[in-house]
Amino acid sequence: MNILAIETSCDETAAAVVCDGREIKSNIISSQIDLHKLYGGVVPEIASRKHIEKINPVITEALETADVTLDEIDAIAVTYGPGLVGALLVGVAAAKAIAFAKGLPLIGVHHIEGHICANFIEYQSLKPPFISLVVSGGHSHLVLVKDIGVYEILGRTRDDAVGEAYDKVARTIGLGYPGGPKMDALAKEGNSEAIIFPKARVADAPLDFSFSGLKSAVLNYVNGCQMKGVVYNPADVAASFQKAVVDVLVEHTMKALESCQMDKLVLAGGVAANTKLRAVMKKACAENGIAFYFPSPIYCTDNAAMIGVAAYYEYLAGNQANLDLNAIPNLKLGQR
Ligand code: KG4
Ligand code: ZN
Repeated sequence: MNILAIETSCDETAAAVVCDGREIKSNIISSQIDLHKLYGGVVPEIASRKHIEKINPVITEALETADVTLDEIDAIAVTYGPGLVGALLVGVAAAKAIAFAKGLPLIGVHHIEGHICANFIEYQSLKPPFISLVVSGGHSHLVLVKDIGVYEILGRTRDDAVGEAYDKVARTIGLGYPGGPKMDALAKEGNSEAIIFPKARVADAPLDFSFSGLKSAVLNYVNGCQMKGVVYNPADVAASFQKAVVDVLVEHTMKALESCQMDKLVLAGGVAANTKLRAVMKKACAENGIAFYFPSPIYCTDNAAMIGVAAYYEYLAGNQANLDLNAIPNLKLGQR
C-alpha cells in the first residue's frame, strides 16, 4: 500500500511516499530555516506563505523520487495538528484536494504520533508497549505507548518545550536560529560542570518537566556577566545548560520506565537528534537493562516519512478522515 504523506505543521514543507508503513520510497523536505533565521525564530505568517509556494513542487518531487504517479498511490496522509494553524492548513488543503480529485482515502495524523512512529522505519520489529520520550520544539512528553494510537501521557512540560529552551538559550549566547544543533556542537567544546544551572522539578508531578526557570537562569547568568564586564565562555554555558536538561530528561525517563515496569524506550522528536541526550540515555538504558531505540537524525526532525508510517496504522485501525478534516493547532495525543 503506497501512502503519499504530507507534513507542514511548522517550518518544513515535506512530502513522502511510504509503502506498507515501512519502506520509505521518498522523503522530501524543503526547509525554511534560511528565511526564519533573519527573524531569530519561526514567523507563522511567513511559514504559511512559504508552504503555499513549496507544497506542489515538494509533492511532485516526492512522487518522482519514489518513481510513482498519483495513480499508484492508495491513500493520502496529512498532519492535521498540533502545530501552527496557517501552516497546517496548507498541508490539509493540499491533501484534501488530492484525495477528492483521485477518490482516495484521506488519513489525518497527529504530529507527535508521527514522531513516535519514526522509530518503526529503522527498527522494523519494534512493537508497543513501550515508553516514549518525545522532545521537540513544541513538545516534551513522556508517553506510555500501549499500542499504536493508544497513549497515556505520563509527564509533560509545564512551560517551555525542550527544543524551545535550546533555541532561546542559543539566541541569548548569540548562536542564532535554529539553536538546538548549534548548541549541541558548541557544548562539545565546553565544560558541563563550569556553571551549576537549576534542574527544576514539579512538586507532586515527578514526571513533569519545567524548563523556563533554567532558561531564565541562563539569561540571568549572561546578563550578570555582561553587567560586571566579565567575559563568559559560550561553550561552557551551552555545555552546562545541556547537562541540566539532559540530566532531568534521563532521570524522569528512567523513573517512568520503572513505574510502568517497561523495558523498552523510544526517543522521538527534533531534540532526539541531540548527541549528548542520545549518549547519556544509551548509558542509562544499558545500566538498567532497557532496550533503547532512537531514529537517525533525518527522522528525528520534522519529515513526512514518519507521517506516512503513522498513517498506515491509522488506516489499518479504520481511522479515515472525511473531506471536512480541519487543522487543529492544539490537537491532543490520542484525540480524534
Ligand atoms: O521535531 P522538530 O523538527 O519540530 C517540532 O515538532 O517542534 O523539532 C525541532 C526542535 C528545534 O527546537 C531544534 O532546535 C531542536 O529540535 N533540535 C535540537 C537538535 N536538533 C534539532 N536540539 C538539540 N540538539 C540537536 N542536535
Ligand atoms: Zn515535530
